[in-house]
Amino acid sequence: MIGRASRVADAFRLALEEAHTFVGATAPNPPVGCVLLDAVGEVLAKAAHVRAGQPHAEAAAIAACRAAGLVERIHTAVVTLEPCSHTGRTPPCTEALLSTPVRAVWIGALDPHPRAPGVGFARLGQAGLAVAMISELDHPDAPELARAAGRLIAPFAKLSRTGRPWVLVKTALDVRSGMIPPPVAKTFTSPQSLAHAHRLRRGCEAIITGSGTVLADDPTFTVRHVADHPGRRRRLAILDRRGRTPGAYLDAAAARGLDASLHTDIPALLDKLGAAGVLSALVEAGPTVRQAFLDAELWDEEVVFQRSALPGDPDRVEVRTRLASAQP
Ligand SMILES: NC(=O)c1ccc[n+]([C@@H]2O[C@H](COP(=O)([O-])OP(=O)(O)OC[C@H]3O[C@@H](n4cnc5c(N)ncnc54)[C@H](OP(=O)(O)O)[C@@H]3O)[C@@H](O)[C@H]2O)c1
Repeated sequence: MIGRASRVADAFRLALEEAHTFVGATAPNPPVGCVLLDAVGEVLAKAAHVRAGQPHAEAAAIAACRAAGLVERIHTAVVTLEPCSHTGRTPPCTEALLSTPVRAVWIGALDPHPRAPGVGFARLGQAGLAVAMISELDHPDAPELARAAGRLIAPFAKLSRTGRPWVLVKTALDVRSGMIPPPVAKTFTSPQSLAHAHRLRRGCEAIITGSGTVLADDPTFTVRHVADHPGRRRRLAILDRRGRTPGAYLDAAAARGLDASLHTDIPALLDKLGAAGVLSALVEAGPTVRQAFLDAELWDEEVVFQRSALPGDPDRVEVRTRLASAQP
């Protein structure tokens, strides 16, 4: 059994990887990955949901199997999110799966949409399939895989539940835990941390900053240290109650592919972003705005990059989550 379970665990890791490739590209839909296995646990196809309006991960994986003439070998589906059972822009994934010989389905997380939790799970079970959550897999990595699936869906879950996006705060600290870079520099983190920070940016549909950062740094807020999703525009929300942001900065931001706007109130901003279908908003601001999010408890997760005191040592990266219940 462990041989079989380890193949499911490997497949689940692959499904997570597929989904992660498109984090930041799927809004308002969540990122989802799917891997299809044959009866001995051989991978037949892997796929992800790439963009809203495109096929869901399960449908894309089944289509890949069909194209390769492998559909009759499908035995097990491994999916990061419960298959949908409703017709939206695309047909229900439960029915797509039931049109194949699939016998078993492993699910990372239940659909957090209030309309749907457990409905797809039940539909597949009623059709005679063996359906289980990945947390139930008899494998030592099962808890970690379930947590990763939970984190993957956390922004969609929060938006569905509260109408507001997942708020991820990115903070860079020097060796003395200060946030202000030395004169002329805009950062003090290592190239590895910069790449990590740009991956966080790629995964968000909106960036939130403050007028203080705009005036001090003239930041570009583009994704440069990793490849960006092709053609993706992001929102840039600037907290600025006194209207200090120069018009030229807003024009230049638009030319860089950012839809920039000024805001005076954090809760109202989060409501607006949620209404626009933003799943994740990245706070990249100075100490004033960062503290305002922390004090108002309007953040969900913080990634802190701290410069090591020893030259040449990697930065320390710490991820903090506000609510224990939201912990990945
Ligand atoms: N280490 C890092 O991670 C990091 C990241 C970014 C920037 N920085 C550094 O931070 C420095 C700038 O710091 P900062 O604190 O002045 O910048 P900031 O936090 O980005 O912006 C501060 C401005 O945002 C507005 N604001 C603050 N709280 C608000 C609220 N609750 N609602 C609406 N607007 C609000 C205020 O302008 P109004 O009063 O006009 O509303 C305030 O002056 C720069 O040196 C920059 O390099 C560091």
